[in-house]
Amino acid sequence: MIYFSTVDINTYSTWLEVDLNAIKHNVAEVIKMTGREVMAVIKANGYGHGMRPIAQACVAGGATWCGVARIEEALALRRAGISSRILVLGFTPASKIPDAIEHNITVALFNSELTQTYLDYVRIHGGVLRAHVKVETGMGRLGMPIDVVPPFLRALKNSPILVEGIFTHFARADEPDSDSTPEQIRKFEALLAELTPQGLKPFYVHAANSAAVLNFPASYYDLTRPGDLLLGMNPMTDRELPPQFRPALTWKARLISVRTFPPGHGISYGSKYVTSKEERIGVIPIGYGDGFRRVDGQQVLVGGKRVNIVGRVCMDQCMLQLDDVPEAKVGDEIVLVGRQGQEFISIDEVAKRWGTINYEVVCGLAERLPRIYIE
Ligand SMILES: Cc1ncc(COP(=O)(O)O)c(C=O)c1O
Repeated sequence: MIYFSTVDINTYSTWLEVDLNAIKHNVAEVIKMTGREVMAVIKANGYGHGMRPIAQACVAGGATWCGVARIEEALALRRAGISSRILVLGFTPASKIPDAIEHNITVALFNSELTQTYLDYVRIHGGVLRAHVKVETGMGRLGMPIDVVPPFLRALKNSPILVEGIFTHFARADEPDSDSTPEQIRKFEALLAELTPQGLKPFYVHAANSAAVLNFPASYYDLTRPGDLLLGMNPMTDRELPPQFRPALTWKARLISVRTFPPGHGISYGSKYVTSKEERIGVIPIGYGDGFRRVDGQQVLVGGKRVNIVGRVCMDQCMLQLDDVPEAKVGDEIVLVGRQGQEFISIDEVAKRWGTINYEVVCGLAERLPRIYIE
């Protein structure tokens, strides 16, 4: 005999909803805005949204390339049936070069010695390795010094490494008034101007991340390379996102308990919050184990209203002050990120509370959160 309780909290007590139509729309908006092909950057589990469905939505929206950080991510995309071009933007261990060749994955070259080791692997394995050269113009991370690039490309001519692209990355494209990005563009273009007459300029030239898509049309070249923007997130902290971009993510949970505590009752670890009168306190089953943060002064939406989280955020739960929403009851849907009625909590708002950027918020969303894809 199975006994059901009187309260059925449906399938999930907390979950992420990802609007794939918003992602397709955002890719199409970038293509419309730039008039260029898009490489959808979907590293780190599609910025926490789930790599496979995000890649599929980006390709359905018109992206011709996917950009990832590691070859394992590229291989996972191939296993998931993604047949678009894929570039590994970061480091690829030389021992993985046969996998890259076998699965038609393009790697980044940013170091002559490593490239030499890649060549050894290609020669033993056979076939052709597709590559894009990464150039250091001001990011101060990976990338070949500009003066090394022409002889490097010359040496690879007629080798089994087919260099079909060249790219750089901006350090401050989210600061449209800074000279930094124009200076990086100037250096990159001086290099391209040197390569062209020597027949060394690779076919694909790319540079623009999301912020550059919004702020620097001079950096569009052949492909743009946005990530954040395709998910409807704002790559800038001090300017509004243009309204045509639609946020894809909503984070929801259900109230799993609502009770009234007497005055003077401590709530959560450390009893940092103590009820000042009779108070209705709700519990939602999310905590820092889900990638939420143990930070004071946070809010969620209940019944279309903002309510305060009170007491310390635990690993799997946190408590809500529900006096302003007397109708709230066990089973009600609450929103941590996204819209409920007239109210909206953006990822940027959450990032601000946590003293970080929206990128870190979404990349930290725990694996245990079910992701529900809406189309
Ligand atoms: C090399 C490179 N290109 C493009 C991107 C996409 O950046 P964004 O998400 O800001 O568009 C990243 C992300 O960090 C990157 O590392």
